[in-house]
Amino acid sequence: MFKLAPSILSADFAKLGEEIAKIEEAGAEYVHIDVMDGMFVPSISFGMPIMKSIRQQSKCVFDVHLMIEEPVRYVKEFQEAGADLITVHAEACKHLDRTIQAIKELGVKVGVALNPATPLSVLDYVLDQVDMVLIMSVNPGFGGQSFIPYSLDKIRQLKQIIDEKGLQVDIQVDGGVKLTNAKEIIDAGANILVAGTAVFGGDAAANVAAFKALQ
Ligand code: DX5
Ligand code: ZN
Repeated sequence: MFKLAPSILSADFAKLGEEIAKIEEAGAEYVHIDVMDGMFVPSISFGMPIMKSIRQQSKCVFDVHLMIEEPVRYVKEFQEAGADLITVHAEACKHLDRTIQAIKELGVKVGVALNPATPLSVLDYVLDQVDMVLIMSVNPGFGGQSFIPYSLDKIRQLKQIIDEKGLQVDIQVDGGVKLTNAKEIIDAGANILVAGTAVFGGDAAANVAAFKALQ
């Protein structure tokens, strides 16, 4: 069983409300919200005002992926804008432990994201504090890139560590996830799949249904 988190980065922003309604109705459990600051990653996407508007019309889990430097500065504002889960990049936090604690204090779930080249060992002392680890399977910043094959090994290793420690931590995978590789990503141990272009690149409702049919 896996959950699907369509990334609205690839949606038509002129019809964002309709796009979200479509994926929710088709069975997506999460809405993946990619926030980019033009510093941590090259692009700038959107922030809290857009989130607040779409929050009104969706009951999905609002899964906020912060690709911003020192995200601790903004976690409260994202929680107030409707985040259910806030994910920060280990590489973007001077004080990762403090940032994790700050998110937990807000009463929302916390995730830590790792860029492709970042080793799993950065999680050694904090894995038992988090609800989710996000394995980036592309270099963050853009939709529509190709899945980096070594990500599969990383997912397998993370799953093994989580199981050995007896923890309940979700493994989310983001970047280049398609209908064609979803099965091997799940088999490697992921249980939340992010998909941007694979969902919004065509008929979003049909694409969500096709992902859901994989389980
Ligand atoms: C990349 C973002 C992803 C992106 C995924 O930096 O974090 O969530 O939207 O897009 P696809 O699924 O097209 O690779
Ligand atoms: Zn993302």
